[in-house]
Amino acid sequence: MTQLHFPDGFLWGAATAAYQIEGAWDEDGKGESIWDRFSHQPFRILNGDAGDIACDHYHHMPEDVAMMKNLGLKAYRFSISWPRVLPQGIGQVNPPGLAFYDRLVDELLEAGIVPMATLNHWDFPQPLQDLGGWPNRDSINWFTAYAQVVFDKLADRIPYWATHNEPMVVAFSGYGFGSFAPGIADFSEAMKTVHHLHLAHGNAVNLYRQLGYDGQIGIVLNLATFIPETDDSADIAAAKRMEDLINGLFLDPILKRDYPADFMDWIGVMAPPIQPDDMAVIAQPIDFLGVNYYFSQYVKYSPHSLFKFEAKPNIDPGWGATEKGWGICPSQLTALLRHLKTNYDSPPIYITENGTSLDEPADETGFVSDQGRINYLRAHFKAAHDAIQEGVDLRGYFVWSLMDNFEWAEGYSLRFGLIHIDFENPQRKRTPKESFAWYQKVIENNAVGD
Ligand code: FCB
Repeated sequence: MTQLHFPDGFLWGAATAAYQIEGAWDEDGKGESIWDRFSHQPFRILNGDAGDIACDHYHHMPEDVAMMKNLGLKAYRFSISWPRVLPQGIGQVNPPGLAFYDRLVDELLEAGIVPMATLNHWDFPQPLQDLGGWPNRDSINWFTAYAQVVFDKLADRIPYWATHNEPMVVAFSGYGFGSFAPGIADFSEAMKTVHHLHLAHGNAVNLYRQLGYDGQIGIVLNLATFIPETDDSADIAAAKRMEDLINGLFLDPILKRDYPADFMDWIGVMAPPIQPDDMAVIAQPIDFLGVNYYFSQYVKYSPHSLFKFEAKPNIDPGWGATEKGWGICPSQLTALLRHLKTNYDSPPIYITENGTSLDEPADETGFVSDQGRINYLRAHFKAAHDAIQEGVDLRGYFVWSLMDNFEWAEGYSLRFGLIHIDFENPQRKRTPKESFAWYQKVIENNAVGD
């Protein structure tokens, strides 16, 4: 078996997010987040699930870091819960909340694991939602003030920072379709959210630089490839429109200092108000681009949909779709990375999320033989290796996820973890899956088997 080697120092990691794993939703002075509010409402989340306890990571943190060490992780990507740090979103700091992340960072460093922190992985403070949330332009200052509190406490020890996770999902699932918190369905609010998230990002990057830290700061985007189903010009335009909506609206302002013009024309009155200096703030240079890759899609024109496109999964030969209906398409990970290099002259890239949920049951001991996840990850690691061979500056790879967790509107029904969690067990018993041992070898060898 040939081993495909990765560059020295390649940052093998795993990722999680606060609301999905921490639990302790109202403990030690934590404030309410929009995900607490949303998941406590009926018929928002599958089976009425909520993140109240989740993996109870808040109470199992040292044990979880010990498992990461055993896995051999070089880096761990987690998020900070804004309302745990600032219960009202602004103003009074909650010392025990900040102390939790302080201990986490020390524990990681002690274990030789590099921390990468995300400031906004969706659990926005409810009191600020009551003031209008992201569509309120004041949100830019709220976020910057929050970033300052966190930087002051932790930036001396955290070398990698991401401002937002998947702003596209915050804007369109949260404010456009309303399927995620805060559950608002209004596309003009969604477009204001896009613009304010961008500005909040730019301001936080600026602040980080002004404070003089020598770490790296970037943003995490969910990106995909969109391929026209036919050569018909309507299908080509539809694929471009979807590309603009998911990728371009988020990449272009940061890396090209402008929104995609065709798309902004197309949405007309829904376009957000842009003030004179806005684009310069948004286009602050970033140190790295975080890419979450899950799928690729074929797109065709559809007169019946709001955005006049219809998408179906693009699936590589021999593969199928995941439980979420996402087509498995490792080859397009290479294509996406190539696209970022060629068309965006991208800064260094980290795959900040990639992984899959599988219906592979645990045995009576809690062990899961997840050969499907191993195959999925191996194929995607190889696709990433191909991109590196082509000259893409890819520096690390974070598997989603370290452990099974609360998968947003799908609750606990989907399991993405390398570690199985028994959600029936009051202790949330943790059991490494077969993929854990497999990934351990990949990290140890800094190579993946052909
Ligand atoms: C991404 C999210 C992450 C997780 C995965 C499956 O969109 O960033 O929190 O839910 O999907």
